[in-house]
Parts: sequence; structure tokens; C-alpha cells
Amino acid sequence: MTSFENILVELKDDTLCITINRPKQLNALNKNTISELGQAIQEAYTNPQIKAVLLTGSGEKAFVAGADIKEFAHFNGEQGKVLSAHGHRIFKMFEDCPKPTVAVINGFALGGGLELAMACHVRVASDNARFSQPEVSLGVTPGYGGTQRLVQLIGKGKAMELLMSGEMIKADEALRLGLVNYVFAPADLLNEAKKLIAKFTKQSPVAIRGVIKAVNDYFVGNLNGFDSEIEEFGNCFDSEDFTEGTTAFLKRRKANFPGK
Ligand code: CAA
Repeated sequence: MTSFENILVELKDDTLCITINRPKQLNALNKNTISELGQAIQEAYTNPQIKAVLLTGSGEKAFVAGADIKEFAHFNGEQGKVLSAHGHRIFKMFEDCPKPTVAVINGFALGGGLELAMACHVRVASDNARFSQPEVSLGVTPGYGGTQRLVQLIGKGKAMELLMSGEMIKADEALRLGLVNYVFAPADLLNEAKKLIAKFTKQSPVAIRGVIKAVNDYFVGNLNGFDSEIEEFGNCFDSEDFTEGTTAFLKRRKANFPGK
């Protein structure tokens, strides 16, 4: 199997295990990591030995703490749109994958991290996991599908609240909202995820493929929303709010948004 710079990929029995491996940066997704995720998930489309995909983060603290703010802090609107479209394309490969994709959330799932988890078919989390779409605190909208998939998963009212407040929620609240399917103790998380995956892999791969396609097709009417998200995400990069939000993060101070 190909070796990568920022992810670890291993075929264990019939499951493709992908681990995002930038623990010092809390597994933040830079462009290269997203490209590598694309290459890794492509394998699940073509390799008949693979019956399911398990996606997790390395270390004990984070699944993924978001898109890499250090990488995009100086982007302009056009670059923002390109970044967003790149993430959309590859996250969709997790959503459309003909084999079950399971996000194993072992800590922070923030911004692009939560968006990546939401692009998977099923989510399980450790009881110390934390979830948010904090982009508004940076002066930007979610850019990897969060405005669409959060609504699909938990409904408009609660999604609006979380998207507009950027508030972080705990694993028990994520479970209550249906954002994750199960919560386990950190020590049990991986084994319990594997047990769940085994329930899928013993079923007919042809039927599973059909289920995934049919369920995803239910949401095709929302495709315009994804396009709007790319547009709005890019537009934010040309704003003073975005400069203030990202600078405040990098300087570890609170943002004071000028509102333009
Ligand atoms: N991008 C880049 N670097 C990040 C990062 C991110 N999203 N999240 C954490 N890091 C880095 C920190 O900068 C720090 O690196 P250095 O040691 O080199 O300074 C390292 O990871 C450890 O982080 P902290 O010291 O901040 O750890 P903490 O325990 O004090 O705080 C945290 C943890 C609450 C998760 C905090 O790191 C945080 O708020 N991170 C940013 C979360 C965020 O805003 N995510 C959304 C990104 S925007 C996005 O995702 C857009 C989109 O939709 C496409």
C-alpha cells in the first residue's frame, strides 16, 4: 500500500484503516493531507478486498481540529474557493464510497474535522470527544460541507444554533442530537468500532452499495447548497473579519470583528 506523509493507511482484514497523522497540529487538515485522503479512499472504490473504511486521528487529543488555519490565513477569495472545492470533492468520495465509511472520533472534531466525520456514513466517538463548527469565530463559514451535512444529520434549528454560535458540544450531547451513533470509553472505542463494522461487512456488498447510493440520492436536491457554501466561504477570505479572526487565532487572543 502507498505510503503517505500525513496519513497512515493499513488494510486490516477486510477494513481499510486510515489514520490522520499530524498529532502535534491536532491532525489539522492542510491541502496535502486532504489530497492524501483522496488517494487513500480511492483504493476503497477499486480494491475488492476492502469491505469497509475506518477513519480516525492519531494521538489521544484530536480526531481533527479543523482545516489548517496556518495554511489558509493569508488566502484571498479565489484561493478560498479553490480550497473549499478541493475539500468538497474529496469529502464527497467518503460520502459516495460504495463501502461503509466509519469515522472513529477519538477527541476534538472541529470545523473541517467535524465536516470530514459527517461525510462518513456512520460516526462513533469516545466520551472525551468534542464537536463544533467554530468557523464563525474566524470570520469564515464552514467550507467542507458543514452547512449542508449538519442540517441533514441533526435538523435545521439545532444546526443553525451550532453554526451561528460556533459552540463546542460534548459527546453525550452529540449522541442525543444524532450527530454520532454511539459513544464509548476511549479504551473501548476502536474495538467497538470494529464490532460495528463487522455488522456491515458480513452483509451483501452489492446490497450495501445500493443502500449507500439510494440514501445519498435522497439529498441530491441539496446540491445547490454545497455550491453556495463554496461561494460564501471564498467571499469571507476577502473580508476584514477573516483577517481579524485568523490573526486573533494565531496570536492566541480574542477576535474583535470590524463587521466588514
Ligand atoms: N489549524 C492549524 N493549527 C491548529 C489547528 C488548526 N485548525 N488546531 C490546532 N492547531 C495547532 C495549534 O496552533 C498548536 O500548534 P503550535 O503548537 O505549533 O502552536 C497545536 O495545534 C496544539 O493546539 P493548541 O495549543 O491550541 O491546543 P489547546 O489544547 O490549547 O486547544 C483547540 C485545542 C481548542 C482544539 C484549539 O487548538 C483550537 O481552537 N483549534 C482551532 C479549531 C478551529 O477553529 N477549527 C476550525 C478551523 S477552520 C475550518 O475548519 C474551515 C473549514 O470548514 C474548511
